[in-house]
Formats: sequence, structure tokens, C-alpha cells
Amino acid sequence: MSKTPDYFHGKTIVITGAGSGIGRATALIFAREGANVVCADINENAAAETAAMVDAHNRAAQTSGSNAGRTLALTIDVTKRDAVNDMIDLAIGEFGSVQFLFNSAGSAIRRSKFLDIDDDLFERTYDLNVKGTFYGMQAVLPHMLTNKFGVIVNMGSQSHKRGGPGSGVHYASAKGAVVTMTMGVAREFATQGIRALSISPGPIDTAFQAAAATSPEMAAQMLNDVPMKRFGKAEEIGELVLFMCSDACGFMTADTVYVNGGGGFR
Ligand SMILES: NC(=O)c1ccc[n+]([C@@H]2O[C@H](COP(=O)([O-])OP(=O)(O)OC[C@H]3O[C@@H](n4cnc5c(N)ncnc54)[C@H](O)[C@@H]3O)[C@@H](O)[C@H]2O)c1
Repeated sequence: MSKTPDYFHGKTIVITGAGSGIGRATALIFAREGANVVCADINENAAAETAAMVDAHNRAAQTSGSNAGRTLALTIDVTKRDAVNDMIDLAIGEFGSVQFLFNSAGSAIRRSKFLDIDDDLFERTYDLNVKGTFYGMQAVLPHMLTNKFGVIVNMGSQSHKRGGPGSGVHYASAKGAVVTMTMGVAREFATQGIRALSISPGPIDTAFQAAAATSPEMAAQMLNDVPMKRFGKAEEIGELVLFMCSDACGFMTADTVYVNGGGGFR
């Protein structure tokens, strides 16, 4: 939460992967705070659905006299540099400036034992998680540097700390690259009004998580390994994105924050 009342009103966040799970929950949380929200996703319908939810919230807020932002849905594949550049240009064109970028789009593509990871799986995993994040940061940073202000939040995973043995070394290592790249960017631009942080969640109850639990036994094992004995909620990550982007933590940059109920399987 911010220190300054209405801190987010009139400011703009671009969210990739906004059509589902953590990205969608974060879009609604920023709408609640009166921010303009750009909902970007490769899935056109999903992006439009999130934007419609944000819009419905904004109309209700306006009716009750509260601050309300605006929203924009964009169909964007984050693995394509040109599309990511367009996403930032369109956001700036619509709202004048962009203060925050949340790179949530990501996935393990599919689960695989280490010796079965082929070039295609490895490349697609790195394209989505690593290059997608890299393109987003390169696209928005010149604008943020001109404004001498910006916060970038990238999506890591707790798995980067464990290595993803047995099903996700490709994914865990890609998330390790995201966490490291975030740190490098944060430190390179630390004196220029830019902060960059990553979040490394344990199992969060989304479509991604459902796909990771490849069998009932795997699902039970994942749950059993969380000391709180439950999966996290997407909103519990979205509220952290809000805090990271706020003026309540101006000295916080570079690091990753683990959100995992005390532990976790992977
Ligand atoms: N849910 C978990 O347990 C968990 C744990 C750790 C990290 N994460 C990470 O959190 C992030 C969000 O995951 P989620 O749980 O909300 O998953 P999700 O599957 O609910 O949402 C991911 C969204 O990303 C979109 N997307 C996929 N490829 C894309 C592309 N090329 N371009 C643009 N958008 C694309 C999908 O259409 C989807 O809407 C991911 O980076 C994931 O790796 C999730």
C-alpha cells in the first residue's frame, strides 16, 4: 500500500499475462487504486475479459464518486520484440506516460525430466520467460529514464532456488535468469529513479499451478510441502506488486521476494 493517498491515481501500469491468474488479479488491484491499467496478453479474449472487469470496476467507482482510471486491452506476444515495443508505445500513446511495468507472462510450457528437455522446449521456455522480460524492460526503460521514474516488477519463481529437479530444470533456470537480470537492471539504473524487483512465488492457485500438478499425487505432494497447507492466492501476489510499485518502499530494489506459505515443493 502507498504512503500517499491516491498515489496510483493518474499513473499507468502495463501488465503482461494480464488475461489470467496473477496478472489479472494485479490488474484489478491497480484498478482499485485508481491507476490506468494496460492489460496485455497473447490471448486476445482473455486480455479483453480482464479489461472488461477493470472497466466494470471503474464505472462503479465513478458512480460512487471514487477515483477511477482507464484501461486498454492489447493482444501481445511477449516473445516478439516488435510487439513488446508496440505495447509500450500504445500505452504511452493512450495514457501519456507509463510508471510501472509488471512482466507476469510466463510458463513452464510443459513439464519434462531433465534428459528429455529438447532444444524446442528449452528455447520456448527461455523465449517466454527470459526474452519476454528482457524485451519488456528494454522497451520501457528509455521512457522511464526520460521521466526519471519507474518501477519494474518481474515474475521469478521459488523454483529458481531449488532448480526444478524432475520436471522443470528448464523453467527454474529461466526464472533464475529473470531474477538475476532484474538485479542487474536495478543496480545499473539505481541512481536514475528506476527500481526493479522480482517476486518468487511458491505454488499459487492459478491455471499455471493446475497444469504443474501433473497427477493427483503431485498435487498432494505440492500441497503437503507448504507449511501453511494451502496454495497462495493470485491476489496475495498482486498486493505485493502494488506495494513494490508504491512510495512505501523507495529503498527497495534489485532483490527477489519469496511468497510461499513458508516453503514449497519445487
Ligand atoms: N501459479 C504459480 O504457482 C506460479 C508460481 C511461480 C511463478 N509463477 C509465474 O507467475 C506468472 C503468472 O503465472 P500465473 O500463475 O498467473 O499463470 P496463468 O497461466 O494463469 O497466466 C499466464 C498468462 O500469461 C499469458 N501468456 C502466455 N504466453 C504469453 C506470451 N507469449 N505473451 C503474452 N502473454 C502470454 C497467458 O495467456 C496467461 O493469460 C508466470 O510468469 C509464472 O511462471 C506462477
